[in-house]
Amino acid sequence: MTTLWGGRFEGAADPLFRRFNDSLPFDHRLLRQDVEGSIAWAGAIAAAGVLTPDERDRLQAALRELLSEAEANPAAVLASGEEDVHSYVESRLVARVGPLGKKLHTGRSRNDQVATDLRLWLRERLGELLSLVRSAQAALLGLAEREQATPIPGYTHLQPAQPLLLAHWCLAYFEMLDRDAERFIDAFGRTNICPLGSGALAGTAYPIDRAKLAEGLGFDAPTANSLDAVASRDFALEALAASAICAAHLSRLAEDLIVYASAEFGLVTMADAFSSGSSLMPQKKNPDALELIRGKFGRILGAFTGLAVTLKGLPLAYNKDLQEDKEPLFDATEHLALCLRVLAPLLDTLIVNRDRCRVAAGAGFANATDLADYLVARGVPFRDAHDAAGRLVRAAIARSARLEDLPLAEMKSVCPAIEQDVFSRLTLEAVLARRDVPGGTAPARVAQALRDARARLSRAEEGGST
Ligand code: ARG
Repeated sequence: MTTLWGGRFEGAADPLFRRFNDSLPFDHRLLRQDVEGSIAWAGAIAAAGVLTPDERDRLQAALRELLSEAEANPAAVLASGEEDVHSYVESRLVARVGPLGKKLHTGRSRNDQVATDLRLWLRERLGELLSLVRSAQAALLGLAEREQATPIPGYTHLQPAQPLLLAHWCLAYFEMLDRDAERFIDAFGRTNICPLGSGALAGTAYPIDRAKLAEGLGFDAPTANSLDAVASRDFALEALAASAICAAHLSRLAEDLIVYASAEFGLVTMADAFSSGSSLMPQKKNPDALELIRGKFGRILGAFTGLAVTLKGLPLAYNKDLQEDKEPLFDATEHLALCLRVLAPLLDTLIVNRDRCRVAAGAGFANATDLADYLVARGVPFRDAHDAAGRLVRAAIARSARLEDLPLAEMKSVCPAIEQDVFSRLTLEAVLARRDVPGGTAPARVAQALRDARARLSRAEEGGST
């Protein structure tokens, strides 16, 4: 096996070091991008007078051929034993076109090459993540629309707090994912800049039209500083940060549903298609899909942390430490994509136990705040109203009853301001309807929020892709 750098060396590399140093086992995933970048580079150095038009055409045709050949037989790429994807492409090129192939690397370094490849790769992955986030958002809206009238208990501290519409819960996650989508779009903007022409670190010594090169590869602009271009990976770190935040949102959603699906809550049931059983306990139906979504956050945040630590304190410019950027980026974004892909059909098939939801939403004294509000409307200062409602909750607990089951006389004995009309204020419908502010859970507000979210999502799906 010849290397790209053998001239300086007398002795061969130790096989263990070779294995340690080689990145082909994972950077083969950049093959298409490496070929794409090489085709553009051949064009750029031809324009700079390094290649004749005929040489350029032969190189570009050979690059295209070797790409289709490699895509048809990916195992052969791995079996080639080359050091990295760049060495692989160059050696196949030389095998096809002979000495001409050795001209391609004129004025280029693997340093600007790999930074370009990774940006080309990531911008595609960011586009994919964005569209998967949009699909998950669509699934949340689908669930919200199906369950527009379904109340659920709302929790703080995982204790019953105030009732909500299930659609309101869906819209909460819709908003989180909307911001995740914006973060991916933002990360795309800083990723889509072209390092090619930066050379090893100081800028290429050939008169390359970098703006044209960048444009030809679909980048928004060339990078502004060659040192920064080859040494920085914050574009990848940013994608991992956005991925970790998105994964954190998915893990909260998963946890909510795991709790709601437990026998004790019983608010929802997972479709068989997204549950598994136990090898020992025949009755079990476990929310494994959700548990994995919850659990993936660990590896995704781990990828962010790993790359951040790799970058910290690294002297300019390129250092081999940077080869460690790829696996976490590949792995974390792949697993986030998987989570999003599973989430959408899981939500589509979620069974909502509507009767159970309604009963639970009306339990737990979740209308106690409304009792206090009722007293406020009758002139009782809020602090006193809060105290009276709290004492009535205690009275109801003593009777194993709901607040609205207490006889009026008993209520009056705690707070004389209470009248018969209190009962109509304590119903689930009344409690929900009173949260009638923008962003509140009143059914009319939720219906409006749903329409707004639908419109926003279709606008995003039409125009907002990266
Ligand atoms: N495999 C290397 C990487 O992933 C490619 C760049 C090598 N550059 C170098 N100067 N050795 O970072």
